[in-house]
Amino acid sequence: MFSSRRSFIRHTAALLGSVALHQNTASAFPGLSPDYSGLKDAASDEDFWRQVRMAYAASPTMINLNNGGVCPMPRATMDALDYYNRMSSEAPSYYMWRILDQDREPLRENLAAIAGANPDEISINRNATESLNTVIFGLDFQPGDEVVLSKYDYPNMINAWKQREKRDGIKLVWVDLELPSEDEEYLVNAFVSRFTDKTRLVHITHMINWCGQVLPVRKIAEAARARGIESLADAAHSFAVLDYKIPDLACDYWGTSLHKFLCGPIGTGMMWIRKEKIEKVWPLLSAPEPRSADIRKFENLGTRSFPIEMALGYSVDLHNLIGSARKSERLHYLKRYWMSRVKDLPGVKLNTSLKHEWSCAIGNFSIEGQKPGDIADKLFQKHKIHTVAIEWEQIKGVRVTPNVYTTTDDLDKLVRGIEGMV
Ligand SMILES: Cc1ncc(COP(=O)(O)O)c(C=O)c1O
Repeated sequence: MFSSRRSFIRHTAALLGSVALHQNTASAFPGLSPDYSGLKDAASDEDFWRQVRMAYAASPTMINLNNGGVCPMPRATMDALDYYNRMSSEAPSYYMWRILDQDREPLRENLAAIAGANPDEISINRNATESLNTVIFGLDFQPGDEVVLSKYDYPNMINAWKQREKRDGIKLVWVDLELPSEDEEYLVNAFVSRFTDKTRLVHITHMINWCGQVLPVRKIAEAARARGIESLADAAHSFAVLDYKIPDLACDYWGTSLHKFLCGPIGTGMMWIRKEKIEKVWPLLSAPEPRSADIRKFENLGTRSFPIEMALGYSVDLHNLIGSARKSERLHYLKRYWMSRVKDLPGVKLNTSLKHEWSCAIGNFSIEGQKPGDIADKLFQKHKIHTVAIEWEQIKGVRVTPNVYTTTDDLDKLVRGIEGMV
């Protein structure tokens, strides 16, 4: 089979000047039809979601509820990755640069379409760390310039800012938060009250990874802009989870990982920079024109895996086939499903809001008198349920993150596991 595919590649590549491998969506995702427009109440339609599950190689025995860490790729993406790797291994420089790389611009357009952005504002890279570090290290600041950030931001970004503090003498102004919160005014003020005439940028994590709290990025970014302050959104957990477009956030810079809820190959990410700001951000790695206004200056990574980047297209297809809104509703539904069943158990505390506006896929719970690590260990040892224990600032609990391939049966097992521990 491989040799016939290989000759197919050679011929189509020669004819079309591109790998043109992509099968149509229906054959890449058997059982899923592109037309689900008539499907009402999809969030609780278990038949539909069982078909979605078949698009993944989800373990039939272990229940993976740590999709907040990294998500599995669909089978079609895995196949494409394997195929592109084999193809590239035949003659890497030929297949990677002359064939696979020709799909970069269509991929950029497809990602931009999901993000509601101009493709010229989208850079494809390896993860959220790379996206956000590019901005953090790429902006010019003077000693004494202030950056407002929260104690609940992700460590890789906190450490990047701390490095700038040490190296360039900028001042970090920390926001502390009482979480979970459903109080927009409180959350906005927690940031805005820290702004001074020296503030240059506010760093906002759209969905906080420790507990799933959603922050009102738009309100904070608008308040910042009104004072001439720029904003950077960490969208690692919100992209392809919450149903939004980047312009809805009103921020200037944005970054995500695509191996989280877009379910891309591991080691894929995306950065967005408002068009007029691209020029002033220095690239993290060398570029022929570092002050260029072309977003592609950030993609000068040297030799890396093109198969990983290009196999991403299949994950994009599956995301579009499910639909951003439908996927988001299902993730809300799954979170509410298990959380509402455990919330009144004795000793159980929810560290995540149940409300639509303030959370989505991620839920965090604790049990009085029990360490998060012990709870997570017991869930795995007794029930083969994989979760993650969180101890960060004031948040101490177990984080549970289902995905579109998670069934309500899986969550019933989780609920029984928690019931057994209280
Ligand atoms: C909020 C947040 N930002 C950024 C990252 C970094 O993502 P990556 O390791 O894919 O770069 C993570 C990882 O979990 C995260 O939770």
